[in-house]
Amino acid sequence: MSRAQVTITRRGAERVRGGHLWVYRSDVRGAEGAEGGSVVAVRDERGRFVARALYSDRSEIALRVLTTRDEEVGREWWHARLRASAGRRAGLEREADAFRLVYSEGDLLPSLIVDRYADVLVLQTLSQGTEELKGMLVELLVEEFAPRAVVERNDVRVRALEGLPSSAGVLYGDAPAELEVVQHGVRLRVAPLGGQKTGAFLDQRENHLAARRYARGRALDCFTFNGGFALSLAGACESVLALDISAEAVAAARRNAELNGASNVEFREVNVFDALHELEAAGERFQTIILDPPAFAKNRASVAAAARGYKEINLRALKMLEPGGVLVTCTCSYHMTEPLFLELISEAASDARRRVQIVERRTQARDHPVLVGVPETLYLKCVIARVVE
Ligand SMILES: C[S@@+](CC[C@H](N)C(=O)[O-])C[C@H]1O[C@@H](n2cnc3c(N)ncnc32)[C@H](O)[C@@H]1O
Repeated sequence: MSRAQVTITRRGAERVRGGHLWVYRSDVRGAEGAEGGSVVAVRDERGRFVARALYSDRSEIALRVLTTRDEEVGREWWHARLRASAGRRAGLEREADAFRLVYSEGDLLPSLIVDRYADVLVLQTLSQGTEELKGMLVELLVEEFAPRAVVERNDVRVRALEGLPSSAGVLYGDAPAELEVVQHGVRLRVAPLGGQKTGAFLDQRENHLAARRYARGRALDCFTFNGGFALSLAGACESVLALDISAEAVAAARRNAELNGASNVEFREVNVFDALHELEAAGERFQTIILDPPAFAKNRASVAAAARGYKEINLRALKMLEPGGVLVTCTCSYHMTEPLFLELISEAASDARRRVQIVERRTQARDHPVLVGVPETLYLKCVIARVVE
């Protein structure tokens, strides 16, 4: 076990004792002998043990707590945590064969993400600590889950904050360029080594299904990506018009529509902001509208500007819904909190002169569990609203 110790302030220790897993650099008092990427013992200024944590010598998040028990954190410890995380997903494979197996802080495995796409595992090591352990983590994943391949999608910007390079590639086995997964009966081709995220927006899986329960008539799916909402809605609606700005996403979505025999879905490669304006100007009406934009607010400073974008699309959607129509509206910005988002929907409803009911307030799928004490683990908000009149 490493002998390295990091001393933190009382404020930092209180934060950890309150349940958070992060200690910021401003709360580190001394880190003698601690190397970036190592597992260290964390003590308060009186020398009392606080936790064992991953140490980063670059990020503002200097420590990510692994355990508040004074226990050895070795191969066996990681194996047990991975097994426990997978165990909490038991039964999920009856609904889908693509889901998040390990959700970093949410599963007490900070800065580690493992997504399962059928028999391929996709790994993200987002701190110096998990990057350092990558080889061992791949071995454990192979031992525990016997996948056909393990690939890394470490081509994400947050790694730069840790001084880590961007990289994507095969770490083990033979990874196909594309493979098929099934989510609640919808077949999707995903490319774990290409495209956005680790292949798909797994966090929206349960919301695709929830939207289907309300969907009917003529539907509009804005920001469709590979068609997740559109194809889930297709069976319940007369027609679905699905929009995305990415040519690659639209091509993939069209292939997915074919795969599912969904002939009533039309995909258009457009900027949603322009398309909503044009559809509204042309007097088009819908009974179901989905809004699932990318994160407009990347940080606290951009919340006001982001709010204008969210409000604009929600306002236009509410104007185009028939009475009784349903809006499924999402934000995946952590900084756009649910109260702020509801406020914005309320302003959009008022500007559109529509009476709107909130029928469901939802979040990310349950394979992305929110850890109490770590608010950053809750980022996705999905509101289902009905236009009453
Ligand atoms: C959060 S993802 C959508 C995920 C998808 N709805 C699902 O459930 O799988 C956001 C999508 O918006 C697209 N996008 C970003 N800006 C856009 C814009 N201005 N107009 C249209 N699509 C845009 C991206 O290409 C991306 O596919």
